[in-house]
Amino acid sequence: MTILITGATGNAGGAVARSLAAQGIPGRGLVRTTTQLPPGIEPVTGDLNRPESFAGALAGATGIFLLSGYERLAELLANAVRAGVRKVVVLSSSSLDGELTNAVAAYHHATEEAVRASGLAWTFLRPNSFMSNTLRWRDQLRAGDEIRVQFPGVPVSTIHPLDIGDVAVRALHGAHDSEVLRLTGPVALTPVEQVAVLAEGLGRPLTAYPMSRAETHAELRATMPGPYAAAIESFFGDGTIDETSVTTTVADVTGHPGRTLQEWVRENGRLFG
Ligand SMILES: NC(=O)c1ccc[n+]([C@@H]2O[C@H](COP(=O)([O-])OP(=O)(O)OC[C@H]3O[C@@H](n4cnc5c(N)ncnc54)[C@H](OP(=O)(O)O)[C@@H]3O)[C@@H](O)[C@H]2O)c1
Repeated sequence: MTILITGATGNAGGAVARSLAAQGIPGRGLVRTTTQLPPGIEPVTGDLNRPESFAGALAGATGIFLLSGYERLAELLANAVRAGVRKVVVLSSSSLDGELTNAVAAYHHATEEAVRASGLAWTFLRPNSFMSNTLRWRDQLRAGDEIRVQFPGVPVSTIHPLDIGDVAVRALHGAHDSEVLRLTGPVALTPVEQVAVLAEGLGRPLTAYPMSRAETHAELRATMPGPYAAAIESFFGDGTIDETSVTTTVADVTGHPGRTLQEWVRENGRLFG
């Protein structure tokens, strides 16, 4: 088994690379600029929006861990079929629980549909928000001890990227073909509670400033394109998706309980320095 990991330098793809490396399974990590990946994971350069740029990296690959939302996906998938790839594990999202027309759900849906049509075996991973999203507070933490949090009252069972990696590797082994796996962390915490976990893990007197809906709206509009801002507001402001419920899928698939935010902070606290 040889796996092509897209997004290999990112939170989720990096976790897949680590999980494969830990199990001694060979992999190739798609990267845009040469970089070091975990032992046994060979970097291959290419651009996900230009399938021809990494077609050669598919030779001999049995599976692909695929990020959603890139261009010319049908070409990439046709290259995979020609190269003899068997299985694609797609990193989709919880947004597909809601209506499919918003900007976030639409790109994940389009990716899932293209993969369904490709003839390749597939598993779709639909995770909640990642624990690594707490890194969006990094600049605020560097500036002081008060963290402004959006949607302060909405509990989210955020997921540790390493759990996504472990589930993906099980699926790449041939398990869970044609299944949609709804992945969550082990407990739902409000952003205010997440800041408290961060404070304890970092040993800092952090406090959360609960942003109003109007403040959140303005900040989202200022930091991302309008359609994405509208999608986030509908998810967490209007409650069009449920990221509060907890599923047992990580434990069922991997045999270990989902990792906690406390564990994520212990491993990644240095990134806030
Ligand atoms: N964050 C969440 O809460 C969440 C929840 C559900 C689903 N998701 C999905 O998960 C995806 C990955 O999240 P993440 O946190 O792992 O993201 P990330 O850490 O930002 O990683 C993105 C990865 O994609 C690579 N990449 C970007 N554009 C590329 C291109 N044109 N060609 C090749 N590689 C490219 C980046 O490579 P470079 O190192 O070259 O930049 C990086 O390795 C998201 O995009 C989203 O679709 C996220």
